[in-house]
Amino acid sequence: MSKITASKISNMKQDSEKIPVITAYDYPMAKLADEAGIPIILVGDSLGMTVLGYESTIKVTMDDMVHHTRAVARGAKQSLIVADMPFMSYGVKASQTLQNAARLFQEGGAQSVKLEGGENIINDVENIVKAGMPVMGHIGLTPQSVHRFGGYRVQGRSRKEIDQLIKDALMLEEAGAYAIVMELIPAPLAKHITELLSIPTIGIGAGPHCDGQVQVVHDILGFFEGFIPKHTKQYLRLNDLIIESIKCYMDEVKAGLFPTMLESFDMDEQILPDSNNR
Ligand code: KIV
Repeated sequence: MSKITASKISNMKQDSEKIPVITAYDYPMAKLADEAGIPIILVGDSLGMTVLGYESTIKVTMDDMVHHTRAVARGAKQSLIVADMPFMSYGVKASQTLQNAARLFQEGGAQSVKLEGGENIINDVENIVKAGMPVMGHIGLTPQSVHRFGGYRVQGRSRKEIDQLIKDALMLEEAGAYAIVMELIPAPLAKHITELLSIPTIGIGAGPHCDGQVQVVHDILGFFEGFIPKHTKQYLRLNDLIIESIKCYMDEVKAGLFPTMLESFDMDEQILPDSNNR
């Protein structure tokens, strides 16, 4: 099968086909997600927390994103790869923004980039699209602005916030974004915006009426037990399986039960030197 494109994703909304999206940050997970048939893999800057152990996405750099996108690109043959533009890699100098976006395509192998924001970054979105690089928008709770929001809180509760979110979504569509992630906004507002737009909305904590859903792979696989967000669902408890398996391995090594000759290589012992002759 051929690579899924950004325009194919746009068409899925017209065909009323839901769009599942999952994050991946390395080769093996990308390969598995691709084999499962996921249309979009997001190399999210959530990798700051999930694989680098940071408290937020703020410390993630362009080099981090290029490195992980490259690994994902080696594993994903069909899924569309979307790479996050990290904090301060856009929104400052237009030429720098374009160069950073281009790095994710040229060095990383992404087929799309995602930027957080709406009206405030609309020139960047327009420029990147004009340069031929498909852009996915991201509005609502935008984690790179966590310090401005004062925490990971649901957005779009007041009329002022609602009006701004609607404006942001419409401006992103107008600027050429082919899809928009909506994070942590009330379901009725997400439904309203989804109906207003002709491009797909991809929700995370935005209810069931979005055109697609995105989840952090560590959350749905139960690979990250410290904090389980309300908007996720664990389909597996990978942590428990991993800890259990490592304990079994340790016990067997300590008890001399692993390895056996099944996991070893034999030889003709006659060619061994006499152990009495050192
Ligand atoms: O970085 C990320 O994983 C994201 C999703 C939560 C949408 O941006």
